[in-house]
Amino acid sequence: TPPLVIAIDGPAASGKSSTAQWVAQLLDVRHVDSGAFYRAITFLAVASGAPADLWTEASVLEQANRITWRLTARSVLPLVDGMEQDEALRGTTVTRNVSRVAAMPAVREWVNSQVRSAGSAVDVVVDGRDIGTAVFPKAQLKVFLVADTWERARRRLIQRLSRRPNDSEIAEEVEALVARDAQDATQSAPARDAITIDTTTVTQEEQVERIVALGRATR
Ligand code: C5P
Repeated sequence: TPPLVIAIDGPAASGKSSTAQWVAQLLDVRHVDSGAFYRAITFLAVASGAPADLWTEASVLEQANRITWRLTARSVLPLVDGMEQDEALRGTTVTRNVSRVAAMPAVREWVNSQVRSAGSAVDVVVDGRDIGTAVFPKAQLKVFLVADTWERARRRLIQRLSRRPNDSEIAEEVEALVARDAQDATQSAPARDAITIDTTTVTQEEQVERIVALGRATR
């Protein structure tokens, strides 16, 4: 049988990554965070020092060979020059510039081939924007997570600040999320055979349990 692929897609801050990580752990398969590959290549574009409006597909992709991935017990981990760059990849500079880089078709092809090679080697839960549509159209299970924008902003801030954000902080984050969704919009539609879960009022435990049950049923 081919390796198991569970695709978890959705807009920014819909809880994809943490959900996917948790589902992967409970099913004892690897988690692949496709956004981390877009972030890694954006990180190198930023590090090049060239201003963002001068980045071209060619100049961005020229750095791609510095990015590799390694299988850990729990994940497919992207490395930059052989090193894990988790914090820098999640920083505001990379986040502000990643949509521009992810809009480049050749970059998408490159990320897709990295993610596909990982997913054809081992069982995976992959999160992203287009996993169930473009990357693994034959995934055995496709989940599309949606959530109210205010709630997504609130959750993202709790994660970032480790405290309860106030309303004006949330309003500011809503603007940033809406802007990123608009820039990402083309990649964020559910596959026709995806199961959509609205996580606004569901606890993370509940959504994880539901996806794990669906995942067990496919094996
Ligand atoms: O999921 P995360 O927020 O880390 O993704 C970062 C960015 O990478 C997104 O805003 C989007 O521009 C891009 N992305 C994408 N397709 C994916 C995953 C991420 O375009 N499958």
